[in-house]
Amino acid sequence: MTAACNVVVLISGTGSNLQALIDHINAGENPACIGAVIANRADAIGLQRAAAAGIATQVLDHKNYADREAFDAALIEAIDARQPQLVVLAGFMRILSAGFVRHYRGRLLNIHPSLLPKHKGLHTHQRALEAGDSEHGCSVHFVTEELDGGPVVAQARIPVRSSDTAESLAQRVHAQEHLIYPLAVRWFAEGRLQLGDNGAQLDGQNLPATGWQFSN
Ligand code: GRF
Repeated sequence: MTAACNVVVLISGTGSNLQALIDHINAGENPACIGAVIANRADAIGLQRAAAAGIATQVLDHKNYADREAFDAALIEAIDARQPQLVVLAGFMRILSAGFVRHYRGRLLNIHPSLLPKHKGLHTHQRALEAGDSEHGCSVHFVTEELDGGPVVAQARIPVRSSDTAESLAQRVHAQEHLIYPLAVRWFAEGRLQLGDNGAQLDGQNLPATGWQFSN
């Protein structure tokens, strides 16, 4: 059975993952519905993508708030006004406070451009190269208080080639992000994905620590 799922997407930039989700929904492959896109920057290109798709947009500029707690409180208020079942971080470049993360426990997803638990934080493509990794990729995970440390839902892997640069890796990883993120949102919207006591669960079964492995 398909559960209705209203999603709020948070962005800071280009919004290509947002676009992939919009396209998945419009193709009839995803029962989720994006109720609003919220950005912390008025110049986030993703806002134009949302508007073009007829999705409500809102800007909450973090610079207008005294501190992280004040911004996060305003963000919670803006999100909750939309009553979403799921909040999707899609290139939202703000560290979220523990209170924010706890408020959305089990209904907050992020995509990170590395094979978690490797390369948490920034500059993941360069770090994968410097570490001499033979493979690289991306991970969808539930967000918990540990930065980029929440239970992994799904991963996609790519081989690292000797000719790769951070840019070429970023490009190929991005293409994989656009496949696994909409899929994870679909699972959630279908009521198949949840955060259990021992990590992410799909269809009631615990997923491995590295999540469901996507192959294409
Ligand atoms: C992606 O690389 C994602 O992994 C990271 O932020 C980037 C967002 O890209 N969390 P886009 O704005 O969706 O194009």
